[in-house]
Amino acid sequence: MQASFYETDKAVSEYLLFHYGSMDDLLLDGIGPQEALGFARRCGQLHAGHAKETGRALDLGCAVGAAAFAMSETFDTVVAIDYSQALIEAAQSLSQNGRATISFAQEGELMRQTEIHTPKEANPDRIEFMQGDAMNLSPELGQFDFVLMANLIDRLPDPACCLASIHELLNPDGVLAITSPYTWLEEYTPRSKWLGGFIENGVAVKTHDRLIELLGKHLELVDTQNLPFLIREHNRKNQYSIAEATIWEKSI
Ligand SMILES: C[S@@+](CC[C@H](N)C(=O)[O-])C[C@H]1O[C@@H](n2cnc3c(N)ncnc32)[C@H](O)[C@@H]1O
Repeated sequence: MQASFYETDKAVSEYLLFHYGSMDDLLLDGIGPQEALGFARRCGQLHAGHAKETGRALDLGCAVGAAAFAMSETFDTVVAIDYSQALIEAAQSLSQNGRATISFAQEGELMRQTEIHTPKEANPDRIEFMQGDAMNLSPELGQFDFVLMANLIDRLPDPACCLASIHELLNPDGVLAITSPYTWLEEYTPRSKWLGGFIENGVAVKTHDRLIELLGKHLELVDTQNLPFLIREHNRKNQYSIAEATIWEKSI
């Protein structure tokens, strides 16, 4: 099915670097947008000022887990789910060992090695990493005080279907955070299932507006933020993006 890239060694090392790389690893001689670093950690803190309870949290599409580690600083238990077995195994290994050595592209075939660590403030014992499908979640997961979907919706085959029941995962005071750069690609989402980024009946359809339509029946949009992030390609090339974060609270 989708997301075979996310099973590759390249994806594992790219995401370990993205989630845990230091400024020295990520920016050549410190040059570049420092505000774009630490994206996963910032996502894991999006509940701040909104979540009233700090019992259970869910990181859906967690990749290698840095947002889940950030959530474990506040929440008693964190469930972290990703479709990719390779990314989940990398997260589990880091959680158990506290460190990992990764190699990443420097120039052409030249690679560099670096050691990454679980964040000092995290409570790895509170996190359960598991392989799973956001399109087909077990009802036994229960409910959560905070649910994070970071850069997931534009990687799903049918995001509207996933979002249709997302409110059921929230406790009465629960908070949902969705971040996305809204990079719609047919490789992951058939065009007929995109939430925005196209013209319909002469009108531009924007993902932000579709999210309000889809979620508005059960959830209230309480905050919108721009979250820059940087994915390193090699020493002298980075991908700079700005995700939109929307924060939702249960309205009934
Ligand atoms: C763009 S990455 C974002 C990862 C992470 N949340 C972050 O912000 O760095 C998308 C993630 O969604 C995962 N994913 C894709 N389809 C999924 C599905 N159906 N269920 C759960 N995870 C999925 C991928 O394996 C990948 O880890």
